Amino acid sequence: MFEDVERVLISEEEIQQKIKELAVLITEDHRGKDLLLVGVLRGALVFMVDLARAIELPLSMDFMAVSSYGASTESSGVVRITKDLEMSIEGKHVLIVEDIIDSGLTLAYILEGLKARNPASLRVCALLDKEDRRKVALPVDYTGFVIPDEFVVGYGLDYRQRYRNLRCIAVLKPEAYL
Ligand code: IMP
Ligand code: MG
Repeated sequence: MFEDVERVLISEEEIQQKIKELAVLITEDHRGKDLLLVGVLRGALVFMVDLARAIELPLSMDFMAVSSYGASTESSGVVRITKDLEMSIEGKHVLIVEDIIDSGLTLAYILEGLKARNPASLRVCALLDKEDRRKVALPVDYTGFVIPDEFVVGYGLDYRQRYRNLRCIAVLKPEAYL
């Protein structure tokens, strides 16, 4: 099914173990607080579903969508909200859930917009972080894995909308990239 995969970078078991660890931290930090998870579509969807179920607190979930990349694997630097939140975040303890932080431009834009809506707190949880690629300084409160500057797919992350349903994080064979 996934013959385009060259190498598994992070296995399904490693991802699930990390989610348990992140969930413990998030649970401790948000006990007794009105927690709202904000997932950034579409990449964070798979991570968000597993993370939410590992957090042992009542919480709500909402989603927003932004476009940062076209079909290319490089950031255009242009960020646009294509789907806004359904709920008000005023007075809520908001945790933004992201699949991966690359340049940081997408998240910087989202943070700025959400701050203006007066949440009680605003934190960030990212499964993957390509630290070396950062173009803007960002506060990331919960990080799953710091990874090298390589294009990865799986566990929600896509290349041209494919491979999101891979259960691990993987690197594709060069011939898979058009
Ligand atoms: P940034 O604005 O440069 O931080 O880009 C963040 C977004 O770029 C992520 O939400 C992903 O959609 C996409 N992205 C960055 N690196 C990768 C990758 O290695 N694989 C798949 N998508 C990526
Ligand atoms: Mg994305």
